[in-house]
Amino acid sequence: MVIGIFLFVSLYNVVFSATNLIVNGDFENPNSIDPWECLGCKPNGLRNSYKGDWSVMVTNRDQSFSALTQRIRSTGGENYIFKSYIKLLKLVRGTMYTDVHVYVKYTDRYGTYIKQRFVDYPKVQIGFGWTELSGDVYIPNGIQSNNFNVSIEIPEHEVDFMLDEASLTVIPNNPYWKSQADSEIDRLRKATLTLTPVAHHNSDYYCQHNQGSYCIDISYMYVEIKQTRSQYAFGSTIQPDLLVNDSLTNYGQFMYDNFEWGEIDNGIQWINMESDQRQLDNETLVQALQRLRSHGLKRWGSGLFSALSKSNPNWISKLPLRDINLAIKDRINYMAALFNERYVYNFLIQDLVIND
Ligand SMILES: *[C@@H]1O[C@H](CO)[C@@H](O)[C@H](O)[C@H]1NC(C)=O
Ligand SMILES: *[C@@H]1O[C@H](CO)[C@@H](O)[C@H](O)[C@H]1NC(C)=O
Ligand SMILES: *[C@@H]1O[C@H](CO)[C@@H](O)[C@H](O)[C@H]1NC(C)=O
Repeated sequence: MVIGIFLFVSLYNVVFSATNLIVNGDFENPNSIDPWECLGCKPNGLRNSYKGDWSVMVTNRDQSFSALTQRIRSTGGENYIFKSYIKLLKLVRGTMYTDVHVYVKYTDRYGTYIKQRFVDYPKVQIGFGWTELSGDVYIPNGIQSNNFNVSIEIPEHEVDFMLDEASLTVIPNNPYWKSQADSEIDRLRKATLTLTPVAHHNSDYYCQHNQGSYCIDISYMYVEIKQTRSQYAFGSTIQPDLLVNDSLTNYGQFMYDNFEWGEIDNGIQWINMESDQRQLDNETLVQALQRLRSHGLKRWGSGLFSALSKSNPNWISKLPLRDINLAIKDRINYMAALFNERYVYNFLIQDLVIND
């Protein structure tokens, strides 16, 4: 008996090669960046590259929007992939990183000027060296003058950088993607399961004459396979108050049936849990965690601390510094005990760095 089981789904990777719409993206001619323009900046060929011999070095930017720009001839109506390599040379004194942005700029068919940021690479450091900068963007058709600009910008004008190997290609429209994806799923993500029924009595002669529980007739056998957990964990955020409300059982059931992780980010904020110091409002949360645990779901929390004062209890701001530290320790210890498992470490780290 052979049964195909669906193991897990992955995104189908389309492999294609396409024309580079950016001209002189490799900057191999040190004397000219044409048809690029450095608007409000100074370009220089530099014999240090990601690939080939040369790249362009951009310095003397006088505004945050001073940018290396190229006008692309295209009627729009397509999805495009931009890709390039950037290397930072100089940051603002005293800073450790900067954000790098790539924009498309065009006038749409209604005459509206559009400036769309489609690459946002945060916190790039000099130590990264050559770093890929890439993203994709849709440009509607009917754009005016049949062209749009691609420009690479960095908010702080003091930052200098190098750029190399820039490309912009059209992602071909594939009307068959769904059936191709399905057949790839069949090919790559399904496994064969072989079940061998073992009879207590394996003499055909005996079974033909004596029916009964010792003999298995596979023509009447029915096997049902139910997948209860994914190999790759899927999670969802939950609202603890809905999870514990017994008149809303479908809410929890959906969660238990479909996910391996439950993330609690509502009702867990400090202000909601401890509006008066040491008076913990924890009943709903404790009950929600118990339900997730008893259905085998991992628990994840977010919002342990916040940089926004409105998300922290009022009494905090009235404490002397030493007591603020103690209150923070109390909260970490309490929440760590409540979540009480190894995921608590992720939980703490994530929340200590996210200011929401
Ligand atoms: C595109 O860049 C060129 C300079 O290369 C500029 O003259 C033009 O106005 C820009 N177009 C848009 C829509 O920003
Ligand atoms: C539970 O859900 C019902 C239906 O939405 C609602 O009327 C009720 O107030 C909820 N109970 C609690 C305790 O929130
Ligand atoms: C809930 O908070 C109370 C104090 O308000 C505390 O005594 C109790 O231990 C807490 N329960 C859990 C499971 O953390």
